[in-house]
Amino acid sequence: MLINMDKMWAGRFQKALDKKADEFNSSLRFDCRMYAQDIQGSKAHAAMLCKQGILTEVELQAIHTGLDGILQDIEKGVLTFTDGAEDIHMFVEAELTKRIGDAGKKLHTARSRNDQVAVDIRLYLRDEAEVVISLIKEAIEAIVMQAETNADVIAPGYTHLQRAQPISFGHHLMAYAEMLVRDIGRLQDCVKRMNVSPLGSCALAGTTYHTDRAYTASLLGFDGVTANSIDGVSDRDFCLELMSAFSILMMHLSRLSEEIILWASWEFKFIELDDAYTTGSSIMPQKKNPDMAELIRGKTGRVYGDLIALLTTLKGLPLAYNKDMQEDKEAVFDSIDTVKMCLEVLAPMLATMKVLAKNTYAAAGKGFINATDLADYLAKKGRPFRAAYKTVGQIVAYCIEKGCVLDELALEEYKKFDEVFEADLYTEISLQTCVEKRTSEGGASFASVKKQAAAMKEVLKSL
Ligand code: ARG
Repeated sequence: MLINMDKMWAGRFQKALDKKADEFNSSLRFDCRMYAQDIQGSKAHAAMLCKQGILTEVELQAIHTGLDGILQDIEKGVLTFTDGAEDIHMFVEAELTKRIGDAGKKLHTARSRNDQVAVDIRLYLRDEAEVVISLIKEAIEAIVMQAETNADVIAPGYTHLQRAQPISFGHHLMAYAEMLVRDIGRLQDCVKRMNVSPLGSCALAGTTYHTDRAYTASLLGFDGVTANSIDGVSDRDFCLELMSAFSILMMHLSRLSEEIILWASWEFKFIELDDAYTTGSSIMPQKKNPDMAELIRGKTGRVYGDLIALLTTLKGLPLAYNKDMQEDKEAVFDSIDTVKMCLEVLAPMLATMKVLAKNTYAAAGKGFINATDLADYLAKKGRPFRAAYKTVGQIVAYCIEKGCVLDELALEEYKKFDEVFEADLYTEISLQTCVEKRTSEGGASFASVKKQAAAMKEVLKSL
């Protein structure tokens, strides 16, 4: 079935577009979310055309009033996105012409949808990146709060998921705060490179009109203009950079979620999640499942997928614009929506979780977690570290055989391994001492965690 010939480009055609082809081609259902940016870009473009004598003051006024009215009506829900338009750009322009007549038809002078869409996405992503940054800050605040509350809580630190050395539980949490601060830095870097205006690149080759690109760029809050018109319309690096930064962010959130899931299990029981962030089972009455953390871990895959999808879309494209590029939007929008949703539940879930200090302490008491400290004890008494390490290895094997831990072995038995052992070894290998003494910069001591948390609060203020 053929639809009517009301397309803006209908002049060149004898036949109307097939209905299925029209639906296939249209991006309005997903690019309509950029309506405010499209209107903002059009207003700046019109202002520039008027400044350059290409539009009259009267025409500019009509265009601005018309565009403002469209914005208000969309926001009020009076104006809805009808199927007829090919994309948000055509929708706004057609609506404007319907409202103000001929002046509306002049808006597209010295412009193409190719530079228009490139501007719209940059404006949209610039704002959304800021939203994500503030959500990450909330997550960091929750982590810092928990790290401070649990700075004195002793827990096992792991390597290979085997108990390794005792740490402050807050220290473990603060590692995630560091990752998230780097994520903010990456997003800020993306925004810097994204914040240049491609408007005025037109279809691909610029224009013969005497335009002022710097003017539109400054009206739209860009730091400058793109230097090459072909690059201006065909570049989507900024989408990829953002999605790469999101992918790394999600990888961090996924690692944290994985730990939350483990910690909430009966096998660990290091934390109790708030009821508001857990669910029950339809059959097993005892269940309290960490669904939110699992979903964050699960949704990481789709954010990676969005990035790979767009990388793949772009890899074979000749310059300049190709319709394939319309595929950028669903991928980048999906990754933004996903990241925002995840952060929105993560921060309060972290803020409300309870750390079960008795359990983390008990876990740290098992698994010979203070063996390094025992070796350090011998080394500090003059034994070469490698020799001390070997002796402690033998002591551990002996304890395993006997079914006891290092703290339970009698001094006489210690002396059989090395006569320098004295009674002070017991305080040296107590969990409290082991953590307390890890005062090296950035180490796992209680004091270090408090210092890290205080420093992080300052970092947050500066971001
Ligand atoms: N909807 C299109 C997109 O998102 C806008 C640009 C269309 N340009 C063109 N020459 N067909 O990519």
